[in-house]
Amino acid sequence: MSEPPPWRIRLEQPGDAASIEALAAMVFGPGRYAKSAYRLREGVDPDPRLGFVAADSASQALLGSVRFWPITVGGETSLLLGPLAVQPGLRGRGIGIALMQHGIDAAKACGYATVLLVGDEPYYARVGFARLPPSRVRFPGPVNVTRVLGLSLVSGALLSLSGAVTRARIDHPVSAQAAALGKI
Ligand SMILES: CC(C)(COP(=O)(O)OP(=O)(O)OC[C@H]1O[C@@H](n2cnc3c(N)ncnc32)[C@H](O)[C@@H]1OP(=O)(O)O)[C@@H](O)C(=O)NCCC(=O)NCCS
Repeated sequence: MSEPPPWRIRLEQPGDAASIEALAAMVFGPGRYAKSAYRLREGVDPDPRLGFVAADSASQALLGSVRFWPITVGGETSLLLGPLAVQPGLRGRGIGIALMQHGIDAAKACGYATVLLVGDEPYYARVGFARLPPSRVRFPGPVNVTRVLGLSLVSGALLSLSGAVTRARIDHPVSAQAAALGKI
C-alpha cells in the first residue's frame, strides 16, 4: 500500500487569510491586481465553501491554496477558479491537482454548473478543463483567448454559457476577510 502524502487538504479557515495572501504575494507579485481576473474578484467574496488549503500534516504550515469566486456569464451564475498557488519548494507532488479537485468536487456539490479560469491548458486539462471557443465569453479586460478554459460540472452546461463575464453580487459588502487582507 502506498504511503499517504505528508500533507492534507482542508477547508480554508479565517486564520489562514494572512498565510494565503503571503503566498499569493510571493508567487504572483504586485502585478496580480492588474489582471482581468482580479477585476472580477474586487469587492466580492470568494465562496467560503470552496476555499481549500494544503497543510503540512506535522507542522500545519500552509503549503498551497485555492479559492473560487462566483461570477456571472451572460447573466448566468458561474465560478472563476483561482488563485491557485503552491509553495515553490513543494511543487510537482500533486498538491495543486489535489486542491483543485477538492474545489471542483465541492463546487459540484454546491450546485454550480460551470467553472471558468484563465490559465495554461496543459495543466488544467488534468482536471478536465478545455479551451472555450474564441469570443464565447468576454472578460472585462484583455485576456489571451487561448488561455480561457472551462469545465462543465453538469453535463453539457458549458455549451449554453456565453456572453460578458462580470462580477457577481457587485453590491455585496466587502467582507471582513478582505479588510484583513489589506484591500480596503
Ligand atoms: C501551477 C501550480 C499551482 C502547480 O502546483 P503543483 O503542486 O506543482 O502541481 P501538481 O504537483 O499537482 O502537478 C504538477 C504537474 O503539472 C505540471 N505543470 C505544472 N504547471 C504547469 C503548467 N503551467 N503547464 C503545464 N504543466 C504544468 C508539472 O510539470 C507536473 O507534471 P508531472 O506530473 O508530469 O511531473 C504551481 O506550480 C504554482 O503555484 N505556480 C505558480 C502560480 C500559478 O501559476 N498558478 C496558476 C495560475 S492561477
